[in-house]
Amino acid sequence: MNIYEAVKQRRSIRRFKNKAVPYAALEKCIDAARLAPCGRNQQVGEYIVINDSEVLPGIFENIGGSIKLPPDKGGPRPDQAPKAYTIVLINKNREVDANRRRVSLVDLGMAAENIILAAWEQGIGCCPLLFFDEANIRPLLEIPEEYDIALVIAMGYPDESPVADVATDSTNIFVDDKLVRHVPKRKLADVIHRNKFGGK
Ligand SMILES: Cc1cc2nc3c(=O)[nH]c(=O)nc-3n(C[C@H](O)[C@H](O)[C@H](O)COP(=O)(O)O)c2cc1C
Repeated sequence: MNIYEAVKQRRSIRRFKNKAVPYAALEKCIDAARLAPCGRNQQVGEYIVINDSEVLPGIFENIGGSIKLPPDKGGPRPDQAPKAYTIVLINKNREVDANRRRVSLVDLGMAAENIILAAWEQGIGCCPLLFFDEANIRPLLEIPEEYDIALVIAMGYPDESPVADVATDSTNIFVDDKLVRHVPKRKLADVIHRNKFGGK
């Protein structure tokens, strides 16, 4: 699988096989994250990887969005819940000035995509999540005050195959009557501007 193929095939996965994700696979993802581009090479990111079956349910209780839809609406059955998570942390001591947060969030978006692609290559699907309850997750994972949570990434071996459709009016994702998730993506011609804004 080359990088372009991985980028084209990757979809967010919200239903997972009942199969543990080995620590070595997660470690490889974080190795990819730490090498991502970042402003001034400041490397504010640190990562908690979770695959302990005793810790997973507490995280699942504190995430949201489509990954928490009921099973008949495309969400996971209990056995299809995520089998691992990466908690993407911002080490505030490495944010040298007050305007740094915008850079940190871009940095960690890039690191997150590295994680997701390194996972995909290993057959592991991911769903990045901004719906999470930071106040509840912090004590569960003993996260110190000098760290903020930027993103949670749910992970596991895919038990669904979402498809990218061509968006017409709406970009809302939906699940059809066979529980296949459809992800409308805007057409290339609608998002590219050649040499000047609006250039064809
Ligand atoms: C910054 C960000 C936050 C997201 N937050 C959530 C979330 O809280 N819950 C969820 O189910 N999906 C979440 N997603 C996944 C998006 O819904 C998904 O990426 C989008 O529908 C496009 O689908 P695709 O990833 O398969 O291309 C998030 C994605 C991103 C990039």
